[in-house]
Amino acid sequence: MVMDENFLVFFVIYTMIIGLFMIELNEYFSNPTKWNDFYEAAWLKRQEIMSSLIKSGETHPLRIIKLFSSIIRFSTQEFIPDEGSSENTRFVFNEDSDYVNEDILNVTILKENTAMTVTPSTLLPSGMKADKKHAHRSNYSSVSSYTSCNKIEFLTDYCRERKFDAVIELGSGYGQNLIELFYQGGPRVPYYAGEFTKSGTDCAKMLGNLMLETELIPFRFDFRNPDLSMIPRYKKVLVFTSHSIEQVGEIPDNLIPAICDLAEQVTCIHIEPFGYQLSSIKNENEVDKNQRQYFKENSWNKNLVRQLVYHSCNEKIDLQYIGKNVLGGGDAHNPSSLALWKSN
Ligand SMILES: C[S@@+](CC[C@H](N)C(=O)[O-])C[C@H]1O[C@@H](n2cnc3c(N)ncnc32)[C@H](O)[C@@H]1O
Repeated sequence: MVMDENFLVFFVIYTMIIGLFMIELNEYFSNPTKWNDFYEAAWLKRQEIMSSLIKSGETHPLRIIKLFSSIIRFSTQEFIPDEGSSENTRFVFNEDSDYVNEDILNVTILKENTAMTVTPSTLLPSGMKADKKHAHRSNYSSVSSYTSCNKIEFLTDYCRERKFDAVIELGSGYGQNLIELFYQGGPRVPYYAGEFTKSGTDCAKMLGNLMLETELIPFRFDFRNPDLSMIPRYKKVLVFTSHSIEQVGEIPDNLIPAICDLAEQVTCIHIEPFGYQLSSIKNENEVDKNQRQYFKENSWNKNLVRQLVYHSCNEKIDLQYIGKNVLGGGDAHNPSSLALWKSN
């Protein structure tokens, strides 16, 4: 009888604590921006497509991501206003809407002259546009649609002769960068995927379960309220962000210190589109001008560079490298710049 009462008291307290914890967790992630909502829906759709690939017999995470990327190249997605509502929006994904099944022909053989004529085509035989606009440093140019900067190769090269005990991506979507990094030669260490959306975290879990040679550990994370306490304290870690800080209007003063506190030695790489933050409006070039305008329209990040300088001045970090628009500009409005710092 005494045992039962004790158990009941324990059970009630335990349930209350779990309840409070869940309320806190929900509140913690309950302040989504329009873009957070967009990615919640976008990653859910990706999980749906990738789970159907798994059901069809695919078992390797890299094959799943690459097959899925091919689908994305020919699909469109947007947030459109709900019918009859000015406030609500709905996510629309048109799978493979731009895929071209017919053969694309641009050669005519002229038998009588033993010659041929070639008509310029805007499409390649795969159905992809032959050309796209690309931004690099301060210039635009036209390149093949298949030209893309392999940021993961950059990370693989950087890691190869440097020893890290763990790799952590913040704002990691469905874990695609970490999965690619591992299978393209990244270090054999645990990979942590910190992501705001539940759908992205769930999808990363699904793909992580297929990774037999390393551990992918997804967790919920918000740049605006950084809590990295679920990561054990390591000696030397690599942290990176890739086009995720871009989505956060202003990162708080405590984000960079929270990253520094992750391990004895932290190396942090930002592959983020902050190029426009490096010039003043008065002397900006066309690439900066268009990027500034694009960021304004989307209410995207304004203060990453300011935060890096601030924490360098207070000697929290050693900012070692900045490269403006050097790491991929296939999305011409949004070329990736590079920043690398180490914790002091
Ligand atoms: C453009 S995607 C990039 C995903 C991935 N890093 C990549 O390079 O493919 C932006 C990601 O940032 C995440 N994100 C946006 N706001 C965030 C926040 N406040 N905290 C954490 N992640 C956030 C989004 O949910 C999304 O997964």
